[in-house]
Amino acid sequence: MNLLTPTHLGKLHLPNRVVLAPMTRSRADADGIVGDLTVKYYVQRATAGLIITEATNISAEAKGSPMTPGIWSAEQVAAWKKVTGAVHAAGGTIVMQLWHTGRVGHSTVRGGQLPVAPSAVGIQGQQVYTPTGLQNYEVPRALTTEEVRSTIDDYERAAQNAKAAGFDGVELHGAFGYLPHQFLVDSVNQRTDEYGGSVENRARFVLEVMERLVGVWGEGRVGIRLSPTLAYNGMIDSDPLATFGYLITKLNALPLAYLHLMRATPDAVRFPTWPQDTVATFGPLFTGSLLLNGGYDRDSAEAVVSSGAAHAVSFGASFIGNPDLVHRFEVGAALAVPDRNTFYSGGEKGYADYPALPQDEEPQDEKKLAKGYWLVQVTITDPAQFGKYTAVAGPVLASYGARVLARGEVREVVEGAVPRRPYFVEFPSYAVALACFRSAGYQDAIALRAGAAHFDIVVVEGM
Ligand SMILES: Cc1cc2nc3c(=O)[nH]c(=O)nc-3n(C[C@H](O)[C@H](O)[C@H](O)COP(=O)(O)O)c2cc1C
Repeated sequence: MNLLTPTHLGKLHLPNRVVLAPMTRSRADADGIVGDLTVKYYVQRATAGLIITEATNISAEAKGSPMTPGIWSAEQVAAWKKVTGAVHAAGGTIVMQLWHTGRVGHSTVRGGQLPVAPSAVGIQGQQVYTPTGLQNYEVPRALTTEEVRSTIDDYERAAQNAKAAGFDGVELHGAFGYLPHQFLVDSVNQRTDEYGGSVENRARFVLEVMERLVGVWGEGRVGIRLSPTLAYNGMIDSDPLATFGYLITKLNALPLAYLHLMRATPDAVRFPTWPQDTVATFGPLFTGSLLLNGGYDRDSAEAVVSSGAAHAVSFGASFIGNPDLVHRFEVGAALAVPDRNTFYSGGEKGYADYPALPQDEEPQDEKKLAKGYWLVQVTITDPAQFGKYTAVAGPVLASYGARVLARGEVREVVEGAVPRRPYFVEFPSYAVALACFRSAGYQDAIALRAGAAHFDIVVVEGM
């Protein structure tokens, strides 16, 4: 499957193209600090080609929803460090989604302060979840020009903190009607300073934020999420093609990791003048790597990646119920249905308690494990990797107490006529073999993880 082959999004190396979409899970404490359950939740999903964290508030002012995490205090950075350390140890790559909710919030979760926005325009026809139940949205307070600039500083500080917390990059949440999106859309942004009015002025905030993020992270480690045809949270622009077309063209000048594009939702149908095919309209405008999202399953994601229209696809709800989604795609297993009642409920239930498939578990035959070694056949299917295996993987294998015993002949397999070269490797135990193949000390070790496209492990003998 092309979905399970490696790729790069900028400088981020992905062993497969199945990305964990950013998902708010409301499991942080009142100070926006994530705990051990969050470490467990992300580690369970570390076989994703890339993890994008839940939206994370860049400042106390950015917060709009209860129990959401932050990245502005030293305690928050320390807590996230545990997540990144554990995900890296499990062979994963993780970027943080940076969030400012703008007008999508309520004073009850903001210490009594009204939400802030480009203009004093409230969300109509929707309600907001607060600690005291559902309430109407308030009319936000318009940011002064000086405050707009200091909010851009907050993004930069958050990016620095994310770096200190050990992330591999950051993604600007520019979608779903949050602050950056509010600046872009003309029905919401009614400013008369340099951040409002023309398309150029409305795009200025997002572009200045992105420049700062790239300033912190350098080339190939900053992504942006956009939803040009999503009307949720009152994001009704008179001309999304002009607005987002301009923005994307300008983003091309920055060395980004990726554009994370939401494909059209049923909302677009309500607006006949809007582009109905978001991917076909906006995807080709971006010259970098494209990551798509929105209702994809194994087959539709495989199709869009195979067509060359996207480098990778992110999965939301299906990753909640299936921590081993990559493995399930690989073997064509059925997917568990996640419980929507526990999406934002707090606690372990519905969070880090969804099981992986039993096949993923270590064999329970204690006699075999006790005897001391496992002979594993590593079959290499990428001709470019032939001959490199012992040289490249040798030191990693040695560090796990394993060694290559023999190298087989290159031969063809019938299915798809892919040439294969088997290597026989001795490991102290099956558990160590799994740990080794899931390690990510360097690029080739990532590809060595069980199930990655160019390698697979077959246990020949376990004693
Ligand atoms: C529980 C939940 C929380 C979400 N939180 C976020 C978020 O924090 N940031 C974001 O950009 N999208 C968020 N989303 C949207 C997902 O990233 C994704 O776009 C959506 O689930 C559609 O993808 P899917 O069809 O694969 O589920 C959330 C979705 C769900 C289900």
